[in-house]
Amino acid sequence: MEESTAHSPLWHYDERRQIGTDYSSQQEIEAYDLRMQQIRDVPSEIREVLDLLDLQPDHTLLELGCGTAEFSLAAAGHCSRVIAADISGPMLEYARNKAQARGVQNVEFVQAGFLTYRHQGRPLEAVVSQLALHHLPDFWKQVALNRIFDMLKEGGQFYLRDVVYSFPVRNYGQFFQEFLNSMSREGQPPQDIVRHIRDEYSTQHWVLEGMMARAGFLIDQVDHKNGFIATYHCTRV
Ligand SMILES: C[S@@+](CC[C@H](N)C(=O)[O-])C[C@H]1O[C@@H](n2cnc3c(N)ncnc32)[C@H](O)[C@@H]1O
Repeated sequence: MEESTAHSPLWHYDERRQIGTDYSSQQEIEAYDLRMQQIRDVPSEIREVLDLLDLQPDHTLLELGCGTAEFSLAAAGHCSRVIAADISGPMLEYARNKAQARGVQNVEFVQAGFLTYRHQGRPLEAVVSQLALHHLPDFWKQVALNRIFDMLKEGGQFYLRDVVYSFPVRNYGQFFQEFLNSMSREGQPPQDIVRHIRDEYSTQHWVLEGMMARAGFLIDQVDHKNGFIATYHCTRV
């Protein structure tokens, strides 16, 4: 596993500092993986992204914030090289064990993030990031989007899924309460979503879309789900 060696100035955002949910133990990560299988339709999400990207055997794909790497491991069957990057060492350890158990050999695991991953080799055909960009405050999101744009080849694709707010902000109290009620189990709101709303940096959709355009992306497809999640398929033009 490669370590990021970037030496940053003191004013640089430290993306290794975990905000919100801290995925530092294998037990928490296992629970996260299981919970994602329960509350998301992960196989159909993967199919949707792979259909959009239409990867070719000679393509290289980078996933930023790969987590337990379900997407990277699936993408590895469609292109020659997948780079799965995450800032969390324990996440990468869990993902690497999964790759070994499944006999997947063309995924490189890299401990680095949106602000520190340094791409080497040919420009990328595709970058994917799911439920991770909200870990950065807005200014650093713009830096991250610019970096992703620069790593892609012309015509390269960027797929983003994240918690992005598209509900009317004047009603935020009612919106969050109703959303949490709809996700509650045995009368208890899910603590990871409570922490997300309170501590993590989800952005309003129009701000994020402006940032993507400023980075130079053409947004080919946008989908806002439940006012809370958004997906974007973008091209470097
Ligand atoms: C909610 S999990 C999502 C994991 C996976 N992409 C998925 O869809 O299930 C967020 C992941 O982002 C990672 N992360 C947090 N900040 C990051 C950063 N600045 N750069 C890259 N990954 C980051 C965390 O370590 C964690 O693995």
